[in-house]
Amino acid sequence: MTSRDFLIAPSILSANFAKLGEEVANVIASGADWVHFDVMDNHYVPNLTIGPLVCEAIRPYTTAPIDVHLMVKPVDRIIPDFAKAGANIITFHPEASEHVDRSLGLIRDNGCQAGLVFNPATPLAYLDYVMDKLDVVLLMSVNPGFGGQSFIPNTLQKLAEARAKIDAYARETGRRIRLEIDGGVKVGNIAEIARAGADVFVAGSAVYGAGKDADPHRYDSIIADLRAELAKV
Ligand code: DX5
Ligand code: ZN
Repeated sequence: MTSRDFLIAPSILSANFAKLGEEVANVIASGADWVHFDVMDNHYVPNLTIGPLVCEAIRPYTTAPIDVHLMVKPVDRIIPDFAKAGANIITFHPEASEHVDRSLGLIRDNGCQAGLVFNPATPLAYLDYVMDKLDVVLLMSVNPGFGGQSFIPNTLQKLAEARAKIDAYARETGRRIRLEIDGGVKVGNIAEIARAGADVFVAGSAVYGAGKDADPHRYDSIIADLRAELAKV
């Protein structure tokens, strides 16, 4: 795998919410690839964030893919709203949907790429019967709900297992599924996370924390540092 296969997806959870459009535009201008958009409902996870109205509001600020991570229960009602608000990728947690296959189909029927998210204690077995409906597999390396937590080391082994499943599927079908990692990704651990198999890296506090004292907020140097680590892989 070469470094150009790696995508960096800063989580706007750690951005300045009073300047969200500018923050999104700046982080993409600084070299990031996707906008990771964390949706929390104070029910599936113990925190409350942003919804389709905010997705619609930031959409004009970038042409980069908006990667909506739903931490809500139930999931189906809100999927078409995010598609209309300009989301490109929508992922959800299998425990939050009564019918995983149906929710994945609904995302694609609404014109978006679809993905499943695995909490640290959620088994990868959910993958086995829905690979054909997936564009992204997202492994949580923290328990969802908050930015700024530490990477759970066991996730490296789980990444390797997910990578093996995804590669076997790609050999059979020729179809590529992205393997995304979310939680505690920093300059100091991104290379070993890449070696374990991830190819999309969410980083919230590491990216947005780095530019918060600059004016205007720019993220060139932290994105370059993350890419320099990925280039070693
Ligand atoms: C956690 C969210 C993450 C979070 C990552 O529930 O899904 O996207 O914002 O933040 P850091 O990179 O600070 O762990
Ligand atoms: Zn997330």
